[in-house]
Amino acid sequence: MNLYDRIPNNVNLSEDKKLQRALEKWLPNYLDWWREMGPDGFQEKDVYLRTAISVEPDGWANFDFVKMPDYRWGIFLKPAEPDAKIGFGDNYGEAAYQEVPGEFRNSLRRIIVTQGDTEPASVEQQRELGKTCPSLYDLRNLFQVNVEEGRHLWAMVYLLQRYFGRDGRDEADALLERRSGNPDKPRILEAFNQPCDDWLNFFCFTMFTDRDGKYQLSALAESGFEPLARTCQFMLTEEAHHMFVGDTGLNRVVKRTAQLMKEGDVRDLGGIPLDIIQKHINFWFSYSLDLFGGEISSNSADFFAAGLKGRYKEREQYEDHIVAEQNFTMKVVEDGQLKDREVAMRNALNEVLRTEYIRDCEKGLARWNKALADEGMSERLFLPNSRFHRHLGEYAGHHFDIEGNLISAGEFEQRQAEWLPTMADREYVRSLMHPVVEPGKIANWIAPPATGIKGKPFEFEYVRL
Ligand SMILES: [Fe+2]
Ligand SMILES: [Fe+2]
Repeated sequence: MNLYDRIPNNVNLSEDKKLQRALEKWLPNYLDWWREMGPDGFQEKDVYLRTAISVEPDGWANFDFVKMPDYRWGIFLKPAEPDAKIGFGDNYGEAAYQEVPGEFRNSLRRIIVTQGDTEPASVEQQRELGKTCPSLYDLRNLFQVNVEEGRHLWAMVYLLQRYFGRDGRDEADALLERRSGNPDKPRILEAFNQPCDDWLNFFCFTMFTDRDGKYQLSALAESGFEPLARTCQFMLTEEAHHMFVGDTGLNRVVKRTAQLMKEGDVRDLGGIPLDIIQKHINFWFSYSLDLFGGEISSNSADFFAAGLKGRYKEREQYEDHIVAEQNFTMKVVEDGQLKDREVAMRNALNEVLRTEYIRDCEKGLARWNKALADEGMSERLFLPNSRFHRHLGEYAGHHFDIEGNLISAGEFEQRQAEWLPTMADREYVRSLMHPVVEPGKIANWIAPPATGIKGKPFEFEYVRL
């Protein structure tokens, strides 16, 4: 079969000789990377996976058994809209960019590389997880997320190779060379260098860190650079499932914990105590907040002015798309105290996007708290204040308690074991992680899902081991 028949696409790949040449060089390296850094121990197994085959809303995906290295990673963009316009910024209303505008070339490349780098990074972080899966259903979901992150890497590599010439091709190569957590060649963003080596971390990651992805992609889906906007619009279709995995995964852990709480001591019964779940929420939520960038950011202003990166649902939920006059009031640390500061709105757009994200996360918390209530529990989970445990932006370098009050470094040091997973917590969670691979069976620390995948029951053999 022709190589290009193996790559489902709607970018006219069979006619595009230049792109073919670039992909011909990159593809074997990608497959080497996948074998080296993709899910360890399962490469030859048949997995019931969804594959994107078109952009039709009612039939975009195909479900079937496939070995992961044979997955048909494709290149899909939402179809172009005739007469697309730039939807915001200084050039609002002008024709959208179909090629990279020279003056924004570096900014655009940086945006695409930063997004692209997160995709393979998460596959690397999750590489060992299959060995301790709580069920075949969960194992399949892990691999689904992994192959689609692989496809998202392809999506960004397509943009680099198609629109950025030589330096784009170099960046595409570098995306396969960095490694999550490697001190010499780390991934670009810090949350993507954190280990994700047990399933509680995995569910938190897909809940909180993939959800950052949703907001970044949504902001880029508004972009005046049309190929980027259309790529991100389609990626969001797949991303929804990743967040579903995290959201429902945590829901099932919380539910099981609540059931065990009624029976006795959760630890004695082999479950995950609520306080350990809370600490993991605190950890991943705070790291994911950093991914939005500094609270006050000239980059965010420049990207908006240039029409490259908009706000969440820019076209749908705002009327003023120029945003030259508005201000935003935020809390900053000044002379050792929290004070209000007024900032030009364009410089506060990271914070605006972060606020949308936090609102979305709160809905997840409400669902988990409902699971607690449904089991008759009065305990509740919560999100930490957004100043807590930050490594980037206005609050980095200061210390805050879980409610966002300024405290000393000493006090933080003293109390952090209350708020963040300790070595002992992590070891305890790890001690529960034993593989359960019999169809229909599930680990003791998590409840089974309400339904299976694509109409199949939970008992279905989602991965043939
Ligand atoms: Fe992704
Ligand atoms: Fe994702």
